Formats: sequence, C-alpha cells, structure tokens
Amino acid sequence: MNYTKSLLLLIIASIWMFSCEQDEKPETYYDKFHPGEIWKDNNGVHINAHGGGVLPHKDTYYWYGEHKIEGIEGNFAQVGVHCYSSKDLYNWKDEGIALEVIKDDPNHDITKGCIIERPKVVYNKKTNRFVMFFHFEYKDRWYESSRAGVAISDTPTGPFTFVKSYRPNAGVWPQNVMEQHKDLTNRAEKSYYRGGPGSLPAHADSVNMLGSHYDVGQMARDQTVFVDDDGKAYHIYSSESNSTIHISLLSDDYLSESGVFYRIFPNSYHEAPALFKHNQTYYMLSSGCTAWEPNEARLSSAPNIFGPWTEIGNPAVGYNKKLDLGPEKTFGGQSTFVLPNPRSKRCFYCHV
Ligand code: GAL
Repeated sequence: MNYTKSLLLLIIASIWMFSCEQDEKPETYYDKFHPGEIWKDNNGVHINAHGGGVLPHKDTYYWYGEHKIEGIEGNFAQVGVHCYSSKDLYNWKDEGIALEVIKDDPNHDITKGCIIERPKVVYNKKTNRFVMFFHFEYKDRWYESSRAGVAISDTPTGPFTFVKSYRPNAGVWPQNVMEQHKDLTNRAEKSYYRGGPGSLPAHADSVNMLGSHYDVGQMARDQTVFVDDDGKAYHIYSSESNSTIHISLLSDDYLSESGVFYRIFPNSYHEAPALFKHNQTYYMLSSGCTAWEPNEARLSSAPNIFGPWTEIGNPAVGYNKKLDLGPEKTFGGQSTFVLPNPRSKRCFYCHV
C-alpha cells in the first residue's frame, strides 16, 4: 500500500490558510501545511490516521483515522481508529486510540484483523453523544460483507464503544426506485467484489443488485456521514458493487437509517465520497474505483442533498514537485473528507 496516500487525503481535504498562537510550542511545531511531507504529532511521531475525518467541536478539532501498521496489506485493522486533537489544524496532539479492535474475542465483529476504513465522527446535539461511522468488513471475508459500523462515545476522544455493524436499508426501497428493481424474481446472482467500471456484467440499472440486497440490506463500502445545517445527518455510501451511491437520511440519534434514501449516479462507479455544502449547494468529492491506485478526483453538485446530482469534473489543479504528481492522480491521494473553513465560510479542497 502507498503509505503516503492516506496521509495526503487529510492534507488535501483540510487545506486552508489559518494561523493561531500556541501557548507552548512542542518540539515539532508547524505554522503551515507541508503537502507531500511526513506530518508529525506533538511527540514527533508520524501521524497515523488514514482515510480520516475532522470533527470541529468547541474550540478544538479532532482528527480520526485508521491506524495502519507498515507491512500489513490493506486495512486489516490491527489497532483501531486513532484520534488526534488540534487548535489550529497544523499541530496535532496524539489522543490515543479512540476505537480499539477486540483482541481476545475472535467472534466479535471488530476483532483484530477485520477491516475498518474511513472512520467519520459526528456530534449529536440532542443526545450529546459522539457517533462514529466506518466501513466495516468481517475478518477473513475480504470486501464481501460491505457493511457500515457504528460506535459511540460521550467524549470526543473516546474510548468509543462499538454498537453494531449492519447493511443499510434492509426491506426499504429508495425513494427513486425503478420499477424493474422491485421485481425480486430478477435478482443478480452474486455480489461482485470491488466494482470498478465494467465489473458488473451489464449496466447497474439492468443488473438488479439493489433488489438482490433488498432483504439483507444494501452494500456499503466507501462511506461518510454529513450533518446538514438543520442537524439532519446523512449516510452516504458506495453501493451495488460500487456502481451507485446511496444517500440515506439517518435517524435523529444518528444511530440508524431512517428508511428514507435515494440512489444516485447509477453505473458511474464512484468511491471515496466526501460531502460539503457551500452557498446552499451540496458538493460531493469522490474518486473512480481503482482500489489503492490513485485516479482523478471527481466533483459533483446538487441543489438538494437527494439530487439531482450533476458531475462537474476534476477540481484538482497544480502539481506537487516533491511527489512529482499532478491532478490526474489526485497527487497520489484520494478524497476522504472536506472541512469547511469557519473563518471565511469557504471550502477548500484538492489543492496541494
Ligand atoms: C479504495 C477505497 C479504500 C479501500 C481500497 C481497497 O479504492 O477507497 O477505502 O477500500 O479501495 O482496495
């Protein structure tokens, strides 16, 4: 795995100009971003929080991401989800492991060696709880489980308690379901792994992956959570073997799907969705499906979170000399999260 890739995700996604005085300057002190370089925490240790997301809460930012171990292929979780905190987005304090894998119970969902990817934490004002969502795969089943994982905590740094893993929206049709998908005599025979373009034998609208998973719940691989201005939260996940994206309203406590969801971009094969809003327009940054190999970033927009969504194209510009990589490979990265700039009310994304 390209070890730089996941670290770049956060740099790319959260880049903005921002300065802030620190009371005590630790040994490693930054006053700007250094894209393409190793980013160290307050202890001088390489930050280990891949596929991550940042939660601004009170006067602090919390960065959650996959703790990876060099030499372990893929995202087979050995440790869990790492958390760091910061006042200025440049300097990050190690807050330890927010969600730990279970080491002494091979039957537990999040037993060591399962897959935990792209953790995102949101704060629920009504319940006063922090809710973590992540892409979860059972141990030794590669990517066929395609589930969402949920964990909760009363504090931002955890420890988070695992609540459940599940396939979203079992027994519910999307609001924009097509009539042919309701024909449950016409189900696709198997789940197809990964799902890059062409991985389904035909167009996703004619291969009934949606109907095939109607009973057990929809496949959910790369995923994120977005909280709108009105406090409603949405679970956005690559589904139907990555051939579509589902946008699903969560319950008020953010712990379950509400049963209201839409299916967008059929047969377009988006991964790595990262949602944000600017001037009442919704934007989704995503990627194509080439596994760990970087590809072009894709930006889409919509006047309403449920659509209609229109793909705009690759928003990345520039060139990173240190990495010798340009926008056609998203500088060796892949979207995971976009952090709005609270100072200017503008969002910055994909510029290194
Ligand atoms: C990537 C995806 C990662 C991981 C990887 C596995 O495309 O964005 O989160 O699932 O595939 O190959």
